[in-house]
Amino acid sequence: MDILVAVIIAYLLGSIPSALWIGKIFYKTDIRTKGSGNLGATNTFRTLGAKAGIVVTVLDILKGTAATLLPVFIDTNIHPLLLGVIAVIGHMFPVFARFKGGKAVATSGGILLGYQWPLFLVAVAALLITLKITKMVSLSSIILAVVAIIYTTIYAINTGDYLFLAVIVVLASFIIYRHRANIARIRAGTEPKIKW
Ligand code: G3P
Repeated sequence: MDILVAVIIAYLLGSIPSALWIGKIFYKTDIRTKGSGNLGATNTFRTLGAKAGIVVTVLDILKGTAATLLPVFIDTNIHPLLLGVIAVIGHMFPVFARFKGGKAVATSGGILLGYQWPLFLVAVAALLITLKITKMVSLSSIILAVVAIIYTTIYAINTGDYLFLAVIVVLASFIIYRHRANIARIRAGTEPKIKW
């Protein structure tokens, strides 16, 4: 029973469509009808500006962190990483937004922050460096997913935490699969670039 309660809370946390709600409440805009149409931080930056983008980034990260830290607050036997993965599933398929959500990047990052913060810092650095070079958030997110797999492979060999490696492989697969339209645009040379 305690496991079911924790799973439901993690899914509902992940389901909070911060990009949709911030857009509707403060900007009277449904960002699903703007830019890429994605309910994520990048499309919020693109269509609503930096202030809204930063708020959505932070909220989407915190959803993953909060789910991963749930066992600190409620008595449950489920592994924190699995709760984080359930939050990411909620983020991708949110009950509060007709099951059409984001691309799993920020909320996956939140799991790292809650479980292994040094990897979160590595991930942020990898994202910023690749973004500076490629100017494409989507490509940077995909490269970030690969960097996270390399990092956790080394980490697992040294610590024996192969569950963490397995979870990162699952999250990286989610991220790459959810970016398939971006990958097609990158190959066609039509993926939008940021000015940075
Ligand atoms: O995190 C999502 C980002 O990598 C791509 O977003 O809106 O450009 O498809 P978008």
